[in-house]
Amino acid sequence: MRKGKELLSLKAWGLLWLPILAITMAHFTTDAEMVWVHDILRRLYYIPIVLGAFGWGLHGALAASIASSLVYLPHAFQMFFHHFHHDPGGSTEKILEILLFNIIALIAGVLVERERRERRRQEEIARKLSETLDEMKLLEEQLIRAGRLQALGELTAGLAHEIKNPLASIKGAAEIVADGIPADSPRRRMVDIQRAEIDRLTALLERFLAFARPKDFVVSQVDIATLMSDTVAFIAPQAAKKKVRFDTRFEPLTVPADREKLTQLLLNILLNAVDASPEGAAVTVTTERRRKGKADYACITIADRGAGIAAELRDKVFNPFYTTKPDGTGLGLSIAARIADQHKGFIEVGSAPEGGALFTVYLPV
Ligand SMILES: Nc1ncnc2c1ncn2[C@@H]1O[C@H](COP(=O)(O)OP(=O)(O)OP(=O)(O)O)[C@@H](O)[C@H]1O
Ligand SMILES: [Mg+2]
Repeated sequence: MRKGKELLSLKAWGLLWLPILAITMAHFTTDAEMVWVHDILRRLYYIPIVLGAFGWGLHGALAASIASSLVYLPHAFQMFFHHFHHDPGGSTEKILEILLFNIIALIAGVLVERERRERRRQEEIARKLSETLDEMKLLEEQLIRAGRLQALGELTAGLAHEIKNPLASIKGAAEIVADGIPADSPRRRMVDIQRAEIDRLTALLERFLAFARPKDFVVSQVDIATLMSDTVAFIAPQAAKKKVRFDTRFEPLTVPADREKLTQLLLNILLNAVDASPEGAAVTVTTERRRKGKADYACITIADRGAGIAAELRDKVFNPFYTTKPDGTGLGLSIAARIADQHKGFIEVGSAPEGGALFTVYLPV
C-alpha cells in the first residue's frame, strides 16, 4: 500500500512516468523513415527503468518496465493509434526489446535490493558495535572510579586511625586545662575555641571513617518512591530557607537495597542540588524504570536549575575532596558513588533540560 503510494509521488512522476510518456510521445511523432531515431528512442526506456530500480527497488523497476512495455506495444505493432507514426524496426527485434525491458528491470531491481539489505545489515552491525563500545566505556569509567575510591578508602582509614588517638588525648588535655581556668578569664575563650575545633575535627574524622569503613550491608526490598518522598521531606525545611521547592513524580518501584545507605546517597545529591539552586527555584525529582544496555534499572533523577556542571568536570565531581564550596569537604559525591557501586549501580551526570545539573542514579532491580 505504502509502496503503491510512493510510486505516485512527485518524485516518481518526475523520474519515471513523465519521461516514459515523453519518450512515447516522441516515438509517435517521429517519422517511420527515421529508423535510427526510433532505435535510440526505444532504448531511452532503460533510463526510467534503472531509475525505478534505484529509487524504489524491484517493484519500482518492474513498474517502470511494465509501463514502458505497455506504452511501447501499440507503437511497435501498429495497434490503436493508426494515424500516428510507428516503429519501423523488425518484429523479433521489438519483441526482444520488450522482453529485455523486463529482464533488465528484474536484474537491476534484485541487485539494488540486495545491496540495500547488505547496507542495512552493516549499519545494524555498526550500531550494535557503537552501543557495546559505549557500554564498555561506561564500565571502564565505573571501574576507574571504584578503584580510586577503594585506594582512597584504605588511605583514609589508616590516616584517620592514626589521628584519632592523639586527637582524643588532646581533647582530654584541653578539658583538664579548661577546668583550671575561670569562666570569665579571656584565656578561657581560647581554650573553648580549641575544644570546638577539636570537636569539628573529630566529626570530620568520623565522616572519613564512615567513608573508609562502610558498615555492613543490610539489604531489604526498598520502595524507591517512598524512600524518595521521605528523603525529600527530610531536607525540605533546609530547602525552604532558600525557598527551593521540589517537583516530584514517582513511579512505584522496589529494589533490593540498604535503606540507610541509599538515603545517604540521595541526601548528598539532593543537598548539592539545593546548594546549586538559585533562590526560589524548583528541583525536579523523579523515579522510573528504565532499560540500559541489557539490564533493567530503577532510575532516580534529580535535576536542578543551577549553573550546571561543565562537561569536563563531570568526572571530577566524584573525586574525593573535589569541592568548589568554601565549607565543603568534597566527599558527598564520592560517598554517593561508592554507595551506588555497592548496590551494583552507578550515577550519571548530565545537564537538565532547564540548564542545571542532572544526576541519574541507576540501581539494578
Ligand atoms: N547540582 C550541582 N550543581 C552544580 N555543581 C555541583 C552539583 N553537585 C555537585 N556539584 C559540584 O561538585 C562538587 C563536589 O560535590 P560533593 O558533594 O562531592 O562535595 P561538596 O558538596 O562540595 O561538599 P560536601 O558534600 O562534602 O559538603 C561541588 O563542590 C560542586 O562544585
Ligand atoms: Mg555535597
